[in-house]
Amino acid sequence: MEDQHHVTAPADSPALGALPVEPLLTAEFDADPGAVYRRLRSTYGPVAPVGLLGVPVWLVLDYREVLEVLRNESRWRRDVRHWRARAQGELPPGWPLLAGYEVRQTMFMDDEEHLAARRTHHAALRPFQDAKSPEGWELRAAVARYADELVALLAAESGRTGFADLGAQYTRPLLLMVTSKLFGCPVELGDELVMDLWRMLDGGPDAGPATGRALSAFTRLAAHRRARPGDDLTSYMMLADPDLTDEQLGRELFMNAVYLNDITGNMVLNTLLEVLRGNATVRRSLSAGQLGETVNRAALANPPIANMCFRFAARDVRLGQFWIRAGDIVLPSSAAAHQDLLAIGSSHMVGSAVSTRAHLGWGAGPHQCPSAARELGGLIVTTAVGRVFDHFAKAELALPFDQLPWRSGAVVRGLKMLPVRYEMAAAELDTARPAALESASVGIDGQARGLLAALRRFMSGARSGG
Ligand code: HEM
Repeated sequence: MEDQHHVTAPADSPALGALPVEPLLTAEFDADPGAVYRRLRSTYGPVAPVGLLGVPVWLVLDYREVLEVLRNESRWRRDVRHWRARAQGELPPGWPLLAGYEVRQTMFMDDEEHLAARRTHHAALRPFQDAKSPEGWELRAAVARYADELVALLAAESGRTGFADLGAQYTRPLLLMVTSKLFGCPVELGDELVMDLWRMLDGGPDAGPATGRALSAFTRLAAHRRARPGDDLTSYMMLADPDLTDEQLGRELFMNAVYLNDITGNMVLNTLLEVLRGNATVRRSLSAGQLGETVNRAALANPPIANMCFRFAARDVRLGQFWIRAGDIVLPSSAAAHQDLLAIGSSHMVGSAVSTRAHLGWGAGPHQCPSAARELGGLIVTTAVGRVFDHFAKAELALPFDQLPWRSGAVVRGLKMLPVRYEMAAAELDTARPAALESASVGIDGQARGLLAALRRFMSGARSGG
């Protein structure tokens, strides 16, 4: 792509605001986003103008163009203040997708400020990244233990064979337990955070206020840990950047919590789904290497973030068949880019063998998932998936694939639930159950009692329609 440093868009090239746009979020998109990406690509090429809840946006569809947007930070800015429509007051009042972008943290910073913020994340996460450090070892052991405890809880509640929702009964509670542990949440704060994150992640009319409550809860957590530092991410972030205020740290923790819960959860569920759709005979024998490959395959088929964060053009740039004007908003689509990558023969990027590691599940360029976070996320995903198939002698989808319920929205194509019919491995159940239940009620660093109890209350409330 040639440098277009001093070029401005020709006056007769169509401006985003003047183009007729079709809304992206439709019933068709909910049912089959791939079909919508395909149609947009065949109509407009690698970049398409679409409407996102009433706001026109450039949707970037092709792998090469998505990589350009992710990698070239001098052309594609992250700070929402570059967005012309926002600066000029042209957005519909209360546009729901803006709230998150107004929470100023690492993801929405550029240049030096961004690099400094990333260094803080790296330094604070490093101890947990290293399996040989006490923190790293303990976290790894905790992830496996929590997974075992949740399976034991499932067996105690639903029996040796039965039906389970691996979203609500396994993946989401597991990640909330990991978050509490990693962030150093005290019991009282842990319980209220859990409830608000559930509301926020599930969306709905209370999502906005719940997001605000979660943000202020993370700010309180920052203040709490400032007074009582521990061996946790919150305390290590303060050590890495002593100038961070409680509000700033609260915002960083909030963003990390979204990744750790929603995005990691999606990757767990997408990978479980990939395995459940696959050959049953290989499930229990998945080695660590094979599991990594399964995670990559799942990320290629359905990336944990379908459409990445917005970028804003720093100046006029030609992309695909359009001129993007300075201050325009673009939405790089990893899901559509993967579709392009996999369209063997029609893709300009790849030959007949596409490496599964070419997926954009971790992002690309200067804002890609920091290596320490990525390692942590990968560890959680492989442990969570591996433990399910260690404990289950049999597991199969309880609904036909095309009837699985997906969440709707632009950012994430995530399962609302993953219903399975399972049979526990008998020997493991007999020994695991009493120990796990005992430790669930008295152990897990003194905080799981409240957390598990709250989750169980929440789940039984959810099941009874509450
Ligand atoms: C399986 C789990 C995860 C996946 C798939 C994932 C994916 C991603 C992706 C795609 C981005 C870039 C988004 C963009 O450019 O628009 C990103 C950024 C980020 N992730 Fe992760 N992530 C995961 C886990 C985590 C965890 C566990 C943490 C922290 C505890 C974390 C912290 C971050 C941070 C701080 C950024 C922002 C980096 C920046 O803007 O420079 N991620 N992640």
